[in-house]
Amino acid sequence: MSTTVEKQIENLREQIRHHEHRYYVLDDPEISDSEFDRLMRRLRDLEREHPELITTDSPTQRVGGEPAAQFPKVRHQVPMLSLDNTYSIEELEDFDRRVRSLSGRSHVQYVGELKLDGLSMSLAYEHGLLTQGVTRGNGVEGEDVTANVKTIGSVPLRIEKERLGAIGRPERFDVRGEVVMPLKAFERLNREREAAGEPKFANPRNSAAGAIRLLDSKLVARRKLDMFHYYLLVDGKVPLPEHWNILDTLAGLGFKVNPHRRLCASFEELLNYIREWETKRQDLEYEIDGVVVKVNDTKLWGALGRTAKSPRWAIAYKYPARQATTTVKNISANVGRTGILTPVAYLEPVDVGGVTVSRATLHNMDEIGRLEVRIGDTVLIQRAGEVIPQVLKVVTHAEDGREFHMPEHCPVCGGEVFRAEGEVAYRCINVACPAQLKESLLHFAGRRAMNIDGLGEALVDQLVDRGLVRDAAGLYGLSEEQIAALERMGEKSASNLKKEIEKSKSADFPRLVFAIGIPFVGERTAQILADHFVSLDRLANASAEELSQIYEIGPKTASGIEKFFAESRNRELIGKLRAAGLQFQQKQSSLSRNQTLAGKTFVLTGVLPHLTRDEATERIQAAGGRVTGSVSKKTDYVVAGADPGSKLDKARSLDVEVIGEERLLELLK
Ligand code: IVH
Repeated sequence: MSTTVEKQIENLREQIRHHEHRYYVLDDPEISDSEFDRLMRRLRDLEREHPELITTDSPTQRVGGEPAAQFPKVRHQVPMLSLDNTYSIEELEDFDRRVRSLSGRSHVQYVGELKLDGLSMSLAYEHGLLTQGVTRGNGVEGEDVTANVKTIGSVPLRIEKERLGAIGRPERFDVRGEVVMPLKAFERLNREREAAGEPKFANPRNSAAGAIRLLDSKLVARRKLDMFHYYLLVDGKVPLPEHWNILDTLAGLGFKVNPHRRLCASFEELLNYIREWETKRQDLEYEIDGVVVKVNDTKLWGALGRTAKSPRWAIAYKYPARQATTTVKNISANVGRTGILTPVAYLEPVDVGGVTVSRATLHNMDEIGRLEVRIGDTVLIQRAGEVIPQVLKVVTHAEDGREFHMPEHCPVCGGEVFRAEGEVAYRCINVACPAQLKESLLHFAGRRAMNIDGLGEALVDQLVDRGLVRDAAGLYGLSEEQIAALERMGEKSASNLKKEIEKSKSADFPRLVFAIGIPFVGERTAQILADHFVSLDRLANASAEELSQIYEIGPKTASGIEKFFAESRNRELIGKLRAAGLQFQQKQSSLSRNQTLAGKTFVLTGVLPHLTRDEATERIQAAGGRVTGSVSKKTDYVVAGADPGSKLDKARSLDVEVIGEERLLELLK
């Protein structure tokens, strides 16, 4: 076998590892998703031709193998302790006092870290290769979930030899951290489960824990878990005198370490950190439930010792849960885009962590049964991230509480309500149900779909209720006069909306694929489908079998797509959208691009006068160019707008050509 193939494979793996690190660990990708996918595809093809060259640490091996029958139990080399919790600053002061008195110091440095709300995991590396991922279990013994852990993009499958020097190239080392499900992935998962009539997960932690225990790693990969690392053991020992340096060392080895950590020189600084994150946590893309305080000096760790379950050198300060009790005034069913009826509890309005909550989801009838909740009951509710508040449990049953029954007829259209066998969800099966239509119009017009600015709930309600629009294609037949006649619509706003609707006709093809509301097809899947099929007709005619051949398209999505296009009313809708002149083709497929900027690398910085960053990126890529996140000698152009960042200085120091928007547009011609 030729060594050039070996070289090619190794070269591809190196590139992919580099980009995985940029994307999953640093959140700062240098290439687009489709470019990354292309590298993976090349590697996968070569490995298929030369299976003897496949290694367990190849990036293609993150997902694969046969589903496990069960997870073997594994004893931890060093037990995985848990943490003492406190909700009170006084107790935190007690902790600080105890640490100072036990250590005999008047002053102790602390490291503040976010307390990630997931599940803890211990990873073993031997000779630089990931060999085992074990759950915490009872702290002494956990479950070997290695195949599943390997699907997590931020977990390195191998550590480069050169990097291992930093910890003395040990034969084995262990890294511990927290596996989390990002809120976006959690929300997507619940949407999919709802559409499939499956019970939803209550919070990201439960769904992360559920995901890591799935027997089929292919399914785990779809859940898009992430991992933050915070603990290192070399030969069973903590290898450095300061925890702060351990975190940096982990990052240097290629592990994802949470960026929001802080070395606090005093207890006061620590309190500031805690106060700061109580509000800032709203903006995080994953959930935290507090802050973990750790003594920085690891030599003190041994001296401070531990209780049966937790160390005395660390403590978790938990933020008050965003929970409250209130009464259920009513329960009624809400009809969603896919026709599913979701029971919603209408509550006596109550403040939950600064937000007034008057509704909470009850998910489905199974959940109502589990909670035994009735109208009139007093319930405990919880708000988490941006997710709709939920009812956690009944605190007291009302004596005259009324049971909720799912209506037999849709509350919106009166159509029949139906529960498919094996499904939890009840659906309105009237395809013309206005509630479904309204939801699907809002989805169609959404910012990430056709981006029809100004078409919000109030307008959609009127358009549907007055019978002006019967499907998404109907939007394109609206006249300015019809729009102007709606409530709270002047001539000016009607003309603006009409323009927006017209403009959406030229929205990119992948947006259209997303907008038409195919079950299970989110933005990213839409992009993959658009790249693969290039035209809507080819996509519409693809069989489930053909669809499931595409990497990243699972059998459920494949069959959802096939069913969608088999339905005559969807075919009709597509015919009408075609007649309206929407983009049914990928303008430049990634394979046959107009190559004016082929081989050129761009970096964008600052605010451009006309183009948004996404638009500029899209247009450069469409012309065959690449847009990367950081300036290097290989950069051909830095496109600078107002308020440029340090990238501009970097460009100047490296003598990279700096251009403005005007010149960029010329190059794009
Ligand atoms: S340190 C002995 N750091 O919280 C050290 N734990 O309630 C123990 N957790 O089991 C862990 N974020 O699953 C540590 N930054 C962080 C953490 C963290 C979340 C979890 C971890 C632990 C639990 C204890």
